[in-house]
Amino acid sequence: MFPGSFMMGAKDRLLPPSIPYRFFVAAVAFHLLAWILLLAAGAEGVIGFVGGQGLVLAALHLITLGTLAMTAMGAGIQLLPVATRRPLGPIWAIKLMFILYAPGVALFAIGLATGLAGFQHGGAGLAVAGLMLFAVLVGANLRKVNDLPGVTLHAGLAVVSLVGLAVLGLLLVIDFTKGFLPDHGAMAAAHAVLAGYGFMGMLALGFSYVLIPMFVLGSAVPDQVGRRSAALSAAGLVCGAAGSAMGLAPLTVLGIVLGLVACGVYLRGMAASVKSRMKKRLEPFFRMVWVAWALLPVSLVAGLAPALGAPADPWASLWGFLLVFGWLLSFVTAILQRIMPFLASMHSSALGGKPALLSHLAPKLPADIHLACHSAALFLIAAGMVGGWVWPLRLGLIAGLAGAISFGVYTFMVLRRYRSHMAAAAAANHEG
Ligand code: HEM
Repeated sequence: MFPGSFMMGAKDRLLPPSIPYRFFVAAVAFHLLAWILLLAAGAEGVIGFVGGQGLVLAALHLITLGTLAMTAMGAGIQLLPVATRRPLGPIWAIKLMFILYAPGVALFAIGLATGLAGFQHGGAGLAVAGLMLFAVLVGANLRKVNDLPGVTLHAGLAVVSLVGLAVLGLLLVIDFTKGFLPDHGAMAAAHAVLAGYGFMGMLALGFSYVLIPMFVLGSAVPDQVGRRSAALSAAGLVCGAAGSAMGLAPLTVLGIVLGLVACGVYLRGMAASVKSRMKKRLEPFFRMVWVAWALLPVSLVAGLAPALGAPADPWASLWGFLLVFGWLLSFVTAILQRIMPFLASMHSSALGGKPALLSHLAPKLPADIHLACHSAALFLIAAGMVGGWVWPLRLGLIAGLAGAISFGVYTFMVLRRYRSHMAAAAAANHEG
């Protein structure tokens, strides 16, 4: 199937812009807040962090729940109906999802930062309710779809992983007050595998199979590539999560090896599509996709160290950092950078007249600054973690915050340019 056909009839399936954009704006705001919290925790708070309540864990979940999952929900509610040509469910259910989820994430982060159990339980409960509603809507949408295995199989794996991560996440929260889990650290690692490679990772792979060929105007990825990477990912996730939870190193290592093979199949499929692209010059957002694709296998290899018994500090923290900030945050901000002006351009001809050009809607300078700062932050923080060096890590946190501010400016400018285009179209209509 050629990516162009993916867009046929897409306009009829566009949700009112405020629906996906409330998720995108919330994601950008939580991203900024997370870096502010990390800077408040300071290099001393990050060096040696191996879990436990506090500012670092709160910042981690403002990134994982507040930015990664929030963006996945906003993109999913708009992309899946276009990809599967089936509505994703009533608008009220999507609005309810946001009403439960966004305040849930905020309350949960306040609870983790302050140690207040009530906020943790209430926030986690609301966030899980929002995520479960998302799982039900996606599950119902995929149920009758038998084409697009690259998308549907990975999205199915993401939904199953979501249930697993939420159950473990809630158990971990309750364990903070009740202390009943036999091995809290092992459960936290299994939670991170299901959440990072399972829920978020599988959504990223699934959406890539339609988004990357569509955004670069490259050839579609053959269905069997999607099937193969889904099957290998499923086996890798089962082994990785079970091995982590039970502290069985050989099983965890098998999971990592299967994950690396799945990653190879996925990246080869992506490379073939990018190579066949019609537009030779890749757009600015793609620079961040390269960063993400490079750090996916690196995060898996880094997982070998703690799996084989290396000390959690710094090796488990480094793995978690490369997984969440290296692979997932780079990929999600790249897609967000592309999807926000893309959707605005799709909506911009709603009042008649020419649609706004994507290149006009997407300001380049703030995207360049974000790329430079984010990349510097990844390098400096990883180096500071491994070496236990305060100054490089502190500079990394400052770079991370500067990048988040620049990404906020990017988002603000896209929305402002879209609004002024619509205001001009409305005025032209009025004069007409
Ligand atoms: C509502 C859903 C979630 C809840 C209730 C939750 C809860 C928790 C808790 C309580 C911990 C702390 C374990 C500790 O350090 O003592 C934790 C750790 C973690 N969570 Fe979540 N989480 C949720 C969603 C997510 C998501 C969506 C992701 C990633 C995409 C994620 C990634 C992580 C990571 C990487 C860790 C650190 C694991 C470690 O220390 O080994 N979480 N989570």
